[in-house]
Amino acid sequence: MFTYRIVFLFILFTFVKEHYYASSEQTNFQKKIHKILAEHGLTEDDELLSVAPEQSILSSVTNQNHGVAPRPKEVQNWPQGKLPHSGEISGVSINRVGQPVIFHRGPRTFNDWSFNETNDFRFINEGPIDIDTVLTLDPKTGNVLSGWGSGFFYLPHGITIDHEGNTWLTDVAMHQVFKFSPGASRPSMTFGQKFQHGPGVRKLCMPTSVAVAHNGDIFIADGYCNSRVLKYDYRGELIRIFPQPWEFLSLQIPHSLTLMEQYDLLCIADRENMRVICVKAELNGYDTSSQMTSLNIQQPDLGRVFAIAAHGNYIYAINGPTSQMIPVQGFTLNPLTESIIDHWDSFAQKMWMPHDIAITEDGRELYIVSITPSRILKFTMENVTRKSGH
Ligand SMILES: *[C@@H]1O[C@H](CO)[C@@H](O)[C@H](O)[C@H]1NC(C)=O
Ligand SMILES: *[C@@H]1O[C@H](CO)[C@@H](O)[C@H](O)[C@H]1NC(C)=O
Repeated sequence: MFTYRIVFLFILFTFVKEHYYASSEQTNFQKKIHKILAEHGLTEDDELLSVAPEQSILSSVTNQNHGVAPRPKEVQNWPQGKLPHSGEISGVSINRVGQPVIFHRGPRTFNDWSFNETNDFRFINEGPIDIDTVLTLDPKTGNVLSGWGSGFFYLPHGITIDHEGNTWLTDVAMHQVFKFSPGASRPSMTFGQKFQHGPGVRKLCMPTSVAVAHNGDIFIADGYCNSRVLKYDYRGELIRIFPQPWEFLSLQIPHSLTLMEQYDLLCIADRENMRVICVKAELNGYDTSSQMTSLNIQQPDLGRVFAIAAHGNYIYAINGPTSQMIPVQGFTLNPLTESIIDHWDSFAQKMWMPHDIAITEDGRELYIVSITPSRILKFTMENVTRKSGH
């Protein structure tokens, strides 16, 4: 246990160092790490570095896929052309006809200067992004089929297309979440107040992601500063906030949401806690019999989980820059056994900061978009055959 703890602390320490160079999307993390180190009576200069393991426990983590979960395999030479006008691609979702739809920032970037110390966006006077921020792509060629969303958004983040074809978009600068009905140019629902943030229930603070259940329940990950998830009914009436104090659950930048409705689970990429946590979604109303225990996937090589997408019994996840010991890669998770069952890393050389992931409803195709470089990769899902022998 002691060794494990030291290795864990080492990972945290390395993270702090690396994070300094990473284009960080939040500010106080270093202080928090120092506090954790201090609580263990350690400083950065302590023997942590000397325990840097040649053969760390990370290398002993093995895949347990056993040929069950399909594995994403990258489609080469896709997209065939270059995406026009796309800046940092922060989000991807799949529309009702299986086409990938991306949400991007055009000429704008999200960096340490984007917000002041009180989480207010500094560049309101530059106006909204004046090019189409939502682009629908041809799944075969990757060519842009259509675009919309110019003159509205300031700093795009998450995109979710629900089962009715509504598009849900989050803007971290506006501190708002919008629902656009198919073909609409104005939102039919708005959550939060424009450029106003706060901890109360009428305001959001840099919201990141949305999930919508088939019964219409809406989940909003709120986000970089409030670190909570809000649940609304289909009319937008607030039903619940995760977590409640008595649930002993603390989130630190919930960055991506996915539902596993067959298990009544809402899964959250709890980014800075370096884990995926699944809680009862309570889609059939408040369930008094349900124990509020959560499922928790947290292993040393998972790192900062940026995005998750569920299909069938599995969750496909990507991490982002964490430390040199923790490669940027793709993971297949089994939330029911709280484990990583597969690693697939063919995109690591191409994406320094992947940011979102989406899988088609039939589970045959998967897409990953990245901030740096501005890129989208397509994968097809391959059956994994169990290797005989070693
Ligand atoms: C951040 O910007 C807002 C809006 O301009 C301002 O009201 C607030 O005082 C600023 N905070 C700091 C710490 O400068
Ligand atoms: C994978 O296996 C399933 C079930 O055996 C089959 O339906 C599917 O077509 C296979 N997919 C591929 C890409 O071979």
